Amino acid sequence: MKKILITYDSGYGATADVAKTIAEKLTGEGLNVDLCIVGSKDPVGYDAAIVGSPIRLSQCTPKIKKFLKTNHSALSHIQVAFFFTCMCVTNNESELELPLYIDPGFNNPNQPRARIKLMEDNHAASYYLKYILKITPGISPLSISFFKGRLNTSKLSMFHRLIMRFAMFALPEIQNGDYLNKAAIRDWAGRLATRLKFG
Ligand SMILES: Cc1cc2nc3c(=O)[nH]c(=O)nc-3n(C[C@H](O)[C@H](O)[C@H](O)COP(=O)(O)O)c2cc1C
Repeated sequence: MKKILITYDSGYGATADVAKTIAEKLTGEGLNVDLCIVGSKDPVGYDAAIVGSPIRLSQCTPKIKKFLKTNHSALSHIQVAFFFTCMCVTNNESELELPLYIDPGFNNPNQPRARIKLMEDNHAASYYLKYILKITPGISPLSISFFKGRLNTSKLSMFHRLIMRFAMFALPEIQNGDYLNKAAIRDWAGRLATRLKFG
């Protein structure tokens, strides 16, 4: 049976919840899944790795970057998929030519309503993925998903709260709330399971 590593970073629990939902779905599909926080296991010995991160300041987290760099060689020999949680993403799939899945819970993914133009540009899927694609040459992800996450500014560290207050002003689509869409997560994971089993 194929062995799948699901590894993720999560500051406030949303990405961890998405990772758990993916793990449940893949296990239900008969795959052998190990779910762990990033850095606790490397991908050697696995047939596939599914790597998840919250988007922070339009990037994945430093721990995910480190994991991707450190394990680049192992990852380039197995199947790889990425998932992200964020509050806003604009879908410019045609520019990217990548197998993107965008949670239908995102409003008008082609029409951001930023008060500050820069915020429109740096909330595009292509912008979020720029650095990741740069550090993973030779890796062709099976799928890359963006799920709407969870934000509660009253629970953030003071520094993060300041950043997010500015982001919410600049980009009114970013709102507090729990937007995790388990149906979308299961849907994505189900399609991925089919590809992992037979790919
Ligand atoms: C410091 C900080 C920066 C963030 N930057 C972005 C961003 O650039 N774009 C976005 O859509 N969401 C952004 N978010 C929202 C998070 O991506 C979202 O709340 C995510 O679901 C959090 O996942 P976690 O609970 O696993 O940490 C940011 C959140 C924080 C705390």
